[in-house]
Amino acid sequence: MAYKEDIERVLFDRDLIEQRTLELGRQIKADYTGKDLVVVTVLKGAFVFAADLTRAIDLPMVVDFAEIVSYGEGTETTEEVVLTKDVAVNVKGRDVLIVEDIVDTGLTTAFLVDHLRIRDPRSLEVCALLYKPAKQRVEVPLRYVGFEVGDVFVVGYGLDYAGKFRNLPEIAALKQVASEE
Ligand code: IMP
Ligand code: MG
Repeated sequence: MAYKEDIERVLFDRDLIEQRTLELGRQIKADYTGKDLVVVTVLKGAFVFAADLTRAIDLPMVVDFAEIVSYGEGTETTEEVVLTKDVAVNVKGRDVLIVEDIVDTGLTTAFLVDHLRIRDPRSLEVCALLYKPAKQRVEVPLRYVGFEVGDVFVVGYGLDYAGKFRNLPEIAALKQVASEE
């Protein structure tokens, strides 16, 4: 499979991502001071962002992970999402912040929000590195957004195309992977 030659252009470089992550960290610190913060990172796509974001939040916290798989290897979200790894910590009465790579249709995030809400957290909010407002189909409690993007398929900094490109340090648009809609 081709690799760097498949990159069309870099949308957000390392410096910009770092700057924005530090801002989000400061904002989250201000909002969660004195609370019982549990950060739930959604695998696999949010693993890079979460590593940087959690270290930018200067507060005590517990970190945990959930993995959600939506089937299909293309660039469109399928309706079928499956929880393949559940959170292990008890979230009841705690302040849960879900960390996502991207909110596109919102279906994946909404699935996890519903799944966690029934366990009765005190608060439940979402921080997404990227948000595609044009594609959103369901509401999610999206409190923090790194960057908004148009209807373009992006890879890098944790995000993949067919499982690849997660290790690219920047966020880039792929060549010839136009949206099928
Ligand atoms: P949603 O359920 O449509 O909001 O999107 C769910 C998942 O689709 C995200 O967590 C990503 O893993 C993937 N996804 C959506 N848009 C992109 C993209 O532009 N690049 C890489 N993955 C994407
Ligand atoms: Mg994902």
